[in-house]
Amino acid sequence: MSTLKRRDFLAAGALTTLAASAGASVRPQRREPGDDHRGPAVIASGNGLAAATRAWELIQQNRDTAEAIVEGVRIIEDDPNDMSVGYGGLPNEDGIVQLDASVMHGPTHKAGSVACIEDIKNPAAVALEVLRRTDHAMIVGPGAKRFALRMGFKEENLLTDRARETWLRWKRNSTKRDDWLNDDELDWQFDDQGHGTAEQARALGLDAPDFTWGTVHCSALNAGGDLSACTTTSGLSWKIPGRVGDSPIIGAGMYCDNDAGAAGATGRGEAAIHSCAAYQVVDHMARGMTPTEACLETLRAVERRTKQKRLLNDKGQPSFGLSMYAIRKDGAFGGACTHPGGSFAVAAEGLAEVRRCVPLFE
Ligand code: GLY
Repeated sequence: MSTLKRRDFLAAGALTTLAASAGASVRPQRREPGDDHRGPAVIASGNGLAAATRAWELIQQNRDTAEAIVEGVRIIEDDPNDMSVGYGGLPNEDGIVQLDASVMHGPTHKAGSVACIEDIKNPAAVALEVLRRTDHAMIVGPGAKRFALRMGFKEENLLTDRARETWLRWKRNSTKRDDWLNDDELDWQFDDQGHGTAEQARALGLDAPDFTWGTVHCSALNAGGDLSACTTTSGLSWKIPGRVGDSPIIGAGMYCDNDAGAAGATGRGEAAIHSCAAYQVVDHMARGMTPTEACLETLRAVERRTKQKRLLNDKGQPSFGLSMYAIRKDGAFGGACTHPGGSFAVAAEGLAEVRRCVPLFE
C-alpha cells in the first residue's frame, strides 16, 4: 500500500478498525489537540525540545529520520546539565556512568541498540552504527565500547564534578551503617565549594535524589511518511552495575513500525519492559487509536500488571512515574504519563513547544 493510501486508510478507518479488532476497547478515545495534527512532525520527551527542534530542521533538509533524531538527541547527550542522559548523567552505585540507547528506522524496520556502554558520550549514535553496519540488534558492555572505538568514537570521562558530588552525597547518606558520614553527622565543610551541608548541596543543585529515571526520547515522521524512533539515557541513578533499563530494549523504551507509528518511554524502565510498552503503543495506533489514547491504554495495562505492594501508593495506583510518547503514521501525536507533571516536546510546521502529557491518574 502506498504511503498516501496507507495514511488515508488510517484516517478514515480508525474507529472502525478499533471496534473490529479483537479485544479492543470501545470506551471513547481521549483526543487532545495533537491527535488532530496531520503531516510531518518530531516529538520528544519534555526535556527534548532542543532535540526535536534540531531533528525537525534536519528532516526539512531531507535528512533521513533516524539520522535526524540521533543528531537531535546528541544535544541532550552532550549537555552536562541534563543529569539523566549522556555526559553528566548520574552514575551507577559504583560511581561509573553506564549509558543505554536504541534507535529504530521505519523504512528498513531495522533497530540498533547499545547497553551499559561506558566512556562514550553519544550512545544513540553508536546504536545507529549497530543498526547500519552490523547484522545485530544489540551490543552491550565492553563489547559496545570496543565497537564504538572501532567506529571512531572518542573515549571520554562522562562523570562531571556535579554528577560525582551528587553520587557521593547519595552514597554517604544511603545508610548510617557504614564508614561514610551522613550529612547530619558532618561537623566540617570538607571542601572549598562547601558541599558539606544539606542546605549548601541543595543551593548548588546537588540534592541527591533517591533514584531518578531520566531519559530522552525522540521520534520523527517526514513528509514522505517515513518514521524513526530513538531513546537514550544514563538510566536509573545509583543502579546496580550492569543494570539495563528499557531505553535500549526494542519494543520497551522505543519502537517504530513504518506502517503505523513510532513511540517511546521515559520513567521506570522495569515497568516499560514488563509491558513491552512502546510496542503496545504502536500496536494500539495500528488498530486505530489516537496517539494519546494509545499511550493511556498502555499505561492502563501497566497499572493492571503492577502487582507488587511496594510499587503501589495508598490508593492502590502505581506510585512510579512512566511517560509514553507517540506519533502516528498520519502525523497525529500525543503523550500520557502515570501521574500529573509529565510533558512532551513537539516540532512541526510553525510549532516548537512543550505540551502537557495527559495523566492517567489526576
Ligand atoms: N527509562 C530509563 C531507565 O529506566 O533506565
